[in-house]
Amino acid sequence: MREYNFGSGRPDPLSFPSEGLAEAAARVIADHGSKLVDYPEGKGYLPLREIAAMRFERSERKSLPVEDIALTSGSMQALQLLSEAYVKPGEIIVTESFTYGGSLGLFRRRQARLVGVPMDDHGMIMSELEATLKRLADQGTKPGFIYTIASHQNPTGSIMPVERREQLLEIARRYDVLVVDDHCYGDIIFDMDQAAPTLYTLDDSGTVVYIGSFSKILGPGVRQGYFAAPPSRMNQMLHNKVDGGTNMLASMIVAEYFKDHLWSHLAMVNRVMQERRDTMTASLAEHFGPLGPAVQWSNPPGGLFIWVKVPDDVDIAEAVRLAGSRGVVCPPGRAFSPEDEDVPYLRLAFGYPSVPDIRDGIPILADCVKAASGVRVEA
Ligand SMILES: Cc1ncc(COP(=O)(O)O)c(C=O)c1O
Repeated sequence: MREYNFGSGRPDPLSFPSEGLAEAAARVIADHGSKLVDYPEGKGYLPLREIAAMRFERSERKSLPVEDIALTSGSMQALQLLSEAYVKPGEIIVTESFTYGGSLGLFRRRQARLVGVPMDDHGMIMSELEATLKRLADQGTKPGFIYTIASHQNPTGSIMPVERREQLLEIARRYDVLVVDDHCYGDIIFDMDQAAPTLYTLDDSGTVVYIGSFSKILGPGVRQGYFAAPPSRMNQMLHNKVDGGTNMLASMIVAEYFKDHLWSHLAMVNRVMQERRDTMTASLAEHFGPLGPAVQWSNPPGGLFIWVKVPDDVDIAEAVRLAGSRGVVCPPGRAFSPEDEDVPYLRLAFGYPSVPDIRDGIPILADCVKAASGVRVEA
């Protein structure tokens, strides 16, 4: 059966630079391969940390010292280190009201209690964050951290404007709560007018830990992520990194390739992703539009996801099951709910499927949503 995979946030397989990476691998192994008899240094392979710093400095116009950057096995490991360093079992993590399911799963494994803060089209609503922190403080509780995907939010695709970021930092400082700035989709942006500085860039008080990744611009298979944190937090986080270090061979190859190709690669990835986004929004207009005004979808200025609101009478689990039986893969809104509640949304990832897969898969999905409407059986 043909598959239409709108499931996870991955780049297009055809944009993976196999040839360039193969040449980079041959060069770097010939020149520096003998370094691989050593364990990587604690913060990871320096030339890749230099690439991470260069990437940050170009978009943020602020320097990021390489000493403040540590490589991890995907950004997921950075999130794991954060939870282990800052959240005791049973403690609270504050998130957006919808957020990345992988992080939710990780936080739940840590036995954290998850508290979602309502959002609008511009991300977390600050009056709601303030009310949440106040309520917790009144109960004598301080969250382990606030976890936010302020840019290209997963799943909604929103970008938090700079004024709101400033407010978030002010509130976090006032309640003395750490902020985790998951910037894993950072460089995938089609509308530069909506670009905003990262929370890490705006902060000068050590309130923020920044998370980056090469997964979304290259591929999650390389497992190269990183975090940036001030020295005291860096040490607290690295204390729990007991894996012998981040894969140095992969770091070497990625660093060797990106030292000459980072900007051209990013431009190419953005061109491809923008075309996919445009194809998907056009297909949604054609096939979901006729389902009525209760169906709405985001037009994200970057990132890899479109968030689709379906009418309340659609049985989402049934729609997803029907779609799966016809080869269309996409997660239900529930996967992004900190409260693990059924919500009338679907998340569509547009980076991985080809243009023809998007054009042919969206009408099938629309059919399945239609077939699952009005069939909800209350428990
Ligand atoms: C918001 C967010 N953070 C972190 C990750 C983990 O990515 P990786 O570990 O591949 O860097 C993902 C993956 O989808 C994500 O969407």
